[in-house]
Amino acid sequence: MSTANISWISGPVLRARAQGPFKLREAIRVGPRALLGEVIRLNEEEIIAQVYEDTTGLRPGVEIVGTGELLGIRLGPALLGNIFDGLMRPLAGSSTSYVEPGMSAAHATRFAFTPRVRPGDQLEAGWVFGEVGAGKGKPQRVLVPPTVAGKVVSIVAAGEYAEDAAILKLRGADGNTHDVGMSHFWAVRNPRPARGRLPSNEPLMTGQRILDSLFPIALGGKGAIPGGFGTGKTVLLESLAKASSADVIVYLGCGERGNEMAGVLDEFPKIEDPRTGRPLMERTVIIANTSNMPVAAREASVYTGVTVAEYFRDQGLHVALMADSTSRWAEALREVSGRFGELPGEGGYPTYLSSRIADFYERGAKVRTLGGDTGSVTLLGSVSPPSGDFSEPVTSHTKRYVRSFWVLDAKRAQARFYPAINPLQSYSEDALRMAEWWQQTYSKLPAGGSPAASGANEWLELRRRFLTLLDEQARLERMARIIGKDALPARQQLTLFCAELVNEAFLRQSAFSEIDRYASPARQAAMMRLLAHFVDKAEAALHAGATPERIAALNILRPLQRMGEEIAEGELEKFAALEARMETEFRELAPTKEEEGAS
Ligand SMILES: Nc1ncnc2c1ncn2[C@@H]1O[C@H](COP(=O)(O)OP(=O)(O)O)[C@@H](O)[C@H]1O
Ligand SMILES: [Mg+2]
Repeated sequence: MSTANISWISGPVLRARAQGPFKLREAIRVGPRALLGEVIRLNEEEIIAQVYEDTTGLRPGVEIVGTGELLGIRLGPALLGNIFDGLMRPLAGSSTSYVEPGMSAAHATRFAFTPRVRPGDQLEAGWVFGEVGAGKGKPQRVLVPPTVAGKVVSIVAAGEYAEDAAILKLRGADGNTHDVGMSHFWAVRNPRPARGRLPSNEPLMTGQRILDSLFPIALGGKGAIPGGFGTGKTVLLESLAKASSADVIVYLGCGERGNEMAGVLDEFPKIEDPRTGRPLMERTVIIANTSNMPVAAREASVYTGVTVAEYFRDQGLHVALMADSTSRWAEALREVSGRFGELPGEGGYPTYLSSRIADFYERGAKVRTLGGDTGSVTLLGSVSPPSGDFSEPVTSHTKRYVRSFWVLDAKRAQARFYPAINPLQSYSEDALRMAEWWQQTYSKLPAGGSPAASGANEWLELRRRFLTLLDEQARLERMARIIGKDALPARQQLTLFCAELVNEAFLRQSAFSEIDRYASPARQAAMMRLLAHFVDKAEAALHAGATPERIAALNILRPLQRMGEEIAEGELEKFAALEARMETEFRELAPTKEEEGAS
């Protein structure tokens, strides 16, 4: 093993004179406490390294030892259901606990393993060779590491084994034998291989109407949530972690204050998975690097998180990774870079900020796994631009690499309009590809067939109408501020009214209402269709001579505004009843003589 001696140290960054070769990205152990670090620059006879733990007390002269391996983590059955720091060392389950300095992840637990292959079988890299934990939630698949292949020489019988025990022996084509355990090592900065990327025509359902119906994200897609302080980024990511359609959730608390993370750490273990009734934690991995924990570990934690996500993807699962906040991660990058005197770029961030953001989001994908299954990693990152300025570097670079962009609006948040997503600034570049999928949902809705022309995609059509209406609203509101709302023609007043209804009845969604907090595709479709019918009827009524005031006074409006909270999943027939009631009210809205005369 190569060694080096510290020549200079500043916070988490050190320079050291190297005796013997080091690799870029090699994991190192620093000083008598063997603190974990990583080589981040290689010069002639000097290395620059960052240390993932408190470096108090380290001084020039202290010895560093190379591990010969790149910075990496062990991937295995011990991940699900647990809470880790940025380098996957277990945290004891509360925000106040810390890992001991120099501690490595010792997984003492034993797991019930069931083999799925026999001696003589030929196993390729990344194939499944067994299962763990049947009987407790869904069994996890056990994988041959992506770097190993061969014929099964021996495999243990079903039973309980330690995670790193050699349970499978393979003989490779070169004649070498490999011992394989339930877990394997992976260097976090290297993407895990797959057979290939697959196009994604299916959304990750979030249960949030404004997202799924207007700005969907694909399974294996990439999305960012930019928003100023207090606009609801954390609440939104947490709701998605609890309710989205992913099989596995990796929740990465990255540099946020300890008390914000405490919400996740204390709450998650108590949440029941709405789909299975079992604890949500059974399919969750939490990685916590709060602002009071070492800054370099925060820099590594996004790679750690995405590596863990890829590992579950490789088991043929759909994984969603929520990173809160990628801005705090970029700040860690900036701090480390600044410490060793790199020339700063825009905003003081290193010039490679953009490529690092790209490297992260590049790992979001739907793939054919090495084992031949379909799996995906969907990446969602919050961005917290200082003083809400979206032109700052982290937001603007992130925008280049994500396909769904959900802008949280300070004005909406101040008005307590949640989720405070701005429908005019947000977008999804994947929306068109989701049209076919949505059409399936619409075609299965019970009554109220849409008048859409045959061949047209109802969802795309409704989505276009909603977006146009919201766009129109912004334009008319600007005009109304100048000339006064009452001076607008009746038709435009009606447009404003309908847009307001779409906001209240569809876009607004309470995270704290049992019924409203998750909307299934069918419920979203039924609501969207019903609201579009309302707009049609209202326009027809206006045309027939009714005033906007009389339309606004209809009794149906209240139930429409409250349908998200009042009509539960599995009560779809109630939408048909509302529709019928709406028809009646509009029929009874015959224009008065006076109005007829005026029109
Ligand atoms: N969907 C929501 N429903 C109700 N209240 C919300 C919602 N989103 C945010 N809030 C309120 O706003 C506060 C700040 O939200 P938070 O997610 O912590 O903001 P950020 O992470 O953007 O700083 C929350 O504590 C909560 O009171
Ligand atoms: Mg937050």
